[in-house]
Amino acid sequence: MKRALVPGTFDPITSGHLDIITRSTHLADEIIVAVAPSVKKNPLFSLEKRVQLAREATAHLPTVTVVPLEGLLVEFARKMGATAVIKGLRAITDFEYEFQQTALNYEIDPKLETIFIMSPPSYMYLSSSIVREIASMQGPLDNFVPACVQEALREKFGEPASDV
Ligand code: COA
Repeated sequence: MKRALVPGTFDPITSGHLDIITRSTHLADEIIVAVAPSVKKNPLFSLEKRVQLAREATAHLPTVTVVPLEGLLVEFARKMGATAVIKGLRAITDFEYEFQQTALNYEIDPKLETIFIMSPPSYMYLSSSIVREIASMQGPLDNFVPACVQEALREKFGEPASDV
């Protein structure tokens, strides 16, 4: 039984994240989506809300569980019995940062593998901060986030402007 972690801040979870999570289910028997508090990022949504939205967005994936991430990623992976961490790589700009994190994690536990999945071109430009920015200007979100996240963003920022 192979278990892998897909960690992130998920503020909020996007269609790009969902693509990575869905593809991860083909690589491991169980996927644990670990939602980090990321206090330094001053998230828009509370940790509880980010976990709730990730649970709703992945409810159709029977091998996916969503939990809050506690402490260091490497130690959390060990505690959860995960042997690999799976992350999405969108563009070359992600590489430097991911390289540093992976190297640090390797120093702490060389047995924990990190696997990168390339985002498809359609999601390469997508990030949670872009989604938050579009929502703050009441822009269209249909292609970027699942329906439950659209609703949560509308509660925060209001309805999109109508042309009629
Ligand atoms: N599709 C869309 N967006 C994606 C994406 C994808 N496939 N992959 C990443 N992103 C975006 C996110 O939306 C986010 O965008 P934003 O910054 O514009 O809001 C950005 O990439 C960064 O993602 P984030 O989820 O914040 O992840 P991260 O790479 O910064 O790492 C953890 C988060 C949880 C993995 C990391 O902080 C961690 O390991 N924390 C635990 C504590 C720890 O062990 N620290 C030491 C690590 S060496």
